Amino acid sequence: MDILVLPGDGIGKEVTAQALRVLKEIVGREASFTEAPIGGEGVKAAGTPLPPATLALARQADAILFGAVGLAGDELGPRHLRPGGGLLALRRELKLFANFRPAILYPELIGASSLKPELVEGLDLMVLRELNGDIYYGTPRGISTNAEGVREGVNTMRYTEPEIERIAHVGFKAARARRRKLCSVDKANVLETMVLWRETVMRVARDYPDVELRNLYVDAASMELLRAPKQFDLILAPNMFGDILSDAAAMLTGSIGMLPSASLGEETGSGAKGLYEPVHGSAPDIAGKGVANPLAAILSAAMLLRHSFGREADAVRIERAVRSVLAAGLRTADILQRGTRQVSTAAMGDAVVDALR
Ligand code: IPM
Ligand code: MG
Repeated sequence: MDILVLPGDGIGKEVTAQALRVLKEIVGREASFTEAPIGGEGVKAAGTPLPPATLALARQADAILFGAVGLAGDELGPRHLRPGGGLLALRRELKLFANFRPAILYPELIGASSLKPELVEGLDLMVLRELNGDIYYGTPRGISTNAEGVREGVNTMRYTEPEIERIAHVGFKAARARRRKLCSVDKANVLETMVLWRETVMRVARDYPDVELRNLYVDAASMELLRAPKQFDLILAPNMFGDILSDAAAMLTGSIGMLPSASLGEETGSGAKGLYEPVHGSAPDIAGKGVANPLAAILSAAMLLRHSFGREADAVRIERAVRSVLAAGLRTADILQRGTRQVSTAAMGDAVVDALR
């Protein structure tokens, strides 16, 4: 098992360190771990957010454990040095277009959710976010001065029909393994790209008559997600809407610090190459303080074992360990409630490792 570890920036380093301990506890003897810089660390080490050496290692690896990238204020710097660009380039270079972001409410955290307990009790939904297209990568793009001498910014929302088809097939297949309800999110009332999205998803749906398809505009979808989230099973979304909706879905579960993700390519069965990362970012405001929640990173390690190595039992072991630590009342600051005990990032990692033993 050749696992590449890319901790990145900010709390990415802290949470990845704990996820790595958990992985080593379970597959330490069978796996080799290599670490490489990306994001702001990539710029520091090699002058670019995705150093060629890091990309080469990523191409070789069976699976990638990823932390987070981004530094405070980096959006105002030049684009080629922006840490987030390292992650975006990696997703595209490795053709990891299917991003699974499960939002599951652990019963122990029901009081930490921003919604009333009865609305989120038993919540188990999956956001499937397309990860290689859309306005994130569309050209033309840039900031320039137009003919009237006025500065203007341009981005392009762009999808080809095959790109929509391939993510739709992944979505319907994934829905089959769940409760067979797929909600596709778009903005087909305004945007042509999204009309193509809707038409294509509806056409692919004919191959999956056993899955119920519903189409929602993204504004309505975000409202429904906050009004009655349990109506959803799998939400299929284009890149940008998926980015936004998955943060919202995360909060329903108590904290964005709880949400793992898996980014897969054409191969989504067991043994697939994948990149595994917490949905949260690098959180520069709390970096280095030892208060970040490592559970999303630890749960991402569970997804890594499940999807890239077919180690379902080990994945379940990690997920059980996380639950038992929560049941014992241990909490990082983001999920702290009355009657529970606040612990540091490292102490949370210790507790999960202890529970595994
Ligand atoms: C995410 C993040 C990234 C994205 C950033 C860091 C580029 O927000 O993975 O959700 O927008 O995709
Ligand atoms: Mg995001």
